[in-house]
Amino acid sequence: MFLKNIQIKNFRNIKKMEYNAESNLNIFMGDNGQGKTNILEAIFVSSTGKSFRTPTDTNLINYEESWYSIKTKYVNNERKINSFIKLDQSKNKILQINNKKTSINNPESLKLVLFIPDDLDLVKGSPLKRRKFIDFTLKQISQDYSFNFDNYGKLLRKRNLLLKNDQTNTKSFNIINDLFVETAVKLILSRINFTSLLDQIIKPLYQEITNGKNTIKIRYALSFNIEDEKINQNILEKSFIENQRSIKDKEIKRKKSMIGPHLDDIHLYQDNKLARHFASQGQQRNIAVCLKLAEVYAFKKIKDYYPVFLLDEVLAELDQEKRLLLLNHLSKAEFQSFLTSVNSNNLRNVEAKLSVIKDGQLIGKE
Ligand SMILES: Nc1ncnc2c1ncn2[C@@H]1O[C@H](COP(=O)(O)OP(=O)(O)OP(=O)(O)O)[C@@H](O)[C@H]1O
Ligand SMILES: [Mg+2]
Repeated sequence: MFLKNIQIKNFRNIKKMEYNAESNLNIFMGDNGQGKTNILEAIFVSSTGKSFRTPTDTNLINYEESWYSIKTKYVNNERKINSFIKLDQSKNKILQINNKKTSINNPESLKLVLFIPDDLDLVKGSPLKRRKFIDFTLKQISQDYSFNFDNYGKLLRKRNLLLKNDQTNTKSFNIINDLFVETAVKLILSRINFTSLLDQIIKPLYQEITNGKNTIKIRYALSFNIEDEKINQNILEKSFIENQRSIKDKEIKRKKSMIGPHLDDIHLYQDNKLARHFASQGQQRNIAVCLKLAEVYAFKKIKDYYPVFLLDEVLAELDQEKRLLLLNHLSKAEFQSFLTSVNSNNLRNVEAKLSVIKDGQLIGKE
């Protein structure tokens, strides 16, 4: 997918902006607080209907206005698509794709991989972060996954409620639990397949970005034991149920579901050692960047088209060598990226469209 044009009105500190994305790599430069992240946020909102940094939609409306709107034009395999989103203070939200009302789960919506500074913690942070990382892309890739994911959340809440109310010996607990296990196994299988795809893709990427100094490995880590080496639906289901039996008393005592995809993790190894314990802070950041990059390629492998890659302030945290290697990779890549940077060092010789942003306005090249 390629974003061709975006028109933003009354969004955050951007009163009116039109941007033509003529290049594969698009860089927004500028001082702090000028509106660089707001542009990436506008792209993200146009695709998902939500922000990545506020749960309150109306925060996005410019302080002095009563509504915002974002129009985009993009292409997917030469098919032209347009989108429109408008939100007013009374929370009326209009979402359109190709001039027709739509929901956020439209398969034609602009697909994205987002990297924000917070993601630099992907390696060291909580397992929830790593689960969110793969779930965000799997949900965009597959409507089935998205459906199962939402369903699992509902079943988990129901199951926990029955545990809380001491109703584990009821018929409804058994019904809920059967569905819970079935849905859990579907999610786990999709995640294992995706993780193994990421593992294949990230290996050469990490060598490239770190200049061949370290190796990397990614493994899906289940929240329960499994005896067999081979994993398939039957084996997973069997082990899941056996494990549930063995921790039944514990679950009743703690009143919550203690195994399942809501507690799984993704283990990252550098040179065969767990990266969150052994890799340096900088190396952990390099791994995080490569993970996101791998996600872009994994998406393409599955869907046969690339998502658009948004990177907010990633360069500041990398050393000079990695910065250049990453910029080089992005400028030569087949997919499109949008990147923000406070510092204009390193950017001069990169093949990219460079724009300076000041007070919510594009002021062209510096
Ligand atoms: N609803 C809003 N209306 C008007 N201005 C807003 C609104 N929400 C945020 N802002 C302002 O937008 C400005 C730019 O924010 P943004 O996060 O895009 O800056 P940035 O260029 O990415 O800066 P940094 O380099 O610090 O990350 C901030 O000064 C903020 O006060
Ligand atoms: Mg910013």
